[in-house]
Amino acid sequence: MSIGQREPDARLLNIFAYGSVVSTYILILIGGYVTTSNSGLGCGESWPSCNGAIFPSLNNPAQVIEFSHRIFNLVVAFFVIGTALLAWTRYRPAHNVVLFSTASFVGLFAQVILGMVTVTSELNPLVSAAHLGLASAVLALVVVNAVMVWNLRSVPVEFQR
Ligand code: HEM
Repeated sequence: MSIGQREPDARLLNIFAYGSVVSTYILILIGGYVTTSNSGLGCGESWPSCNGAIFPSLNNPAQVIEFSHRIFNLVVAFFVIGTALLAWTRYRPAHNVVLFSTASFVGLFAQVILGMVTVTSELNPLVSAAHLGLASAVLALVVVNAVMVWNLRSVPVEFQR
């Protein structure tokens, strides 16, 4: 059976794969704003807390900007983890989707760790540059995965029930 657009599970995979692309892109825009507004240490050197608190004070713009970058990770993680789970549980024969959705998850996980090191190293320039580089790699992975998911429309793949 081919995974067509009207197949409900394929619709779900589409939503998660394309959602990963859009949310990762937005997160990168927020990250750029963190850097250009000098808000990188808005939450201090603490992670995952923000200056030791779970929620930031709304009176401090730098803190709000840095915190929104961190919290938006949850949206990206929702889509990226959802895509990988769907690929592993329902689309195992679609090897490219399994490969790229898993790589996206691993890349995002590494990026969260690197984000932590970015703040705990007080924005060490090398670490910040690596954070920007890995962000580009993660975006590339989720885009390639979305293209693979798009291609499933025309490639006959037996999916698991
Ligand atoms: C909880 C995890 C994360 C933390 C704590 C974090 C933290 C930070 C910090 C502190 C900066 C500012 C660096 C500076 O001003 O030099 C930053 C920038 C940035 N972050 Fe994150 N980040 C996280 C996750 C991510 C993820 C998952 C992505 C993308 C996939 C991402 C993409 C970016 C980008 C593109 C920048 C701008 C870099 C630049 O323009 O030089 N971050 N992040």
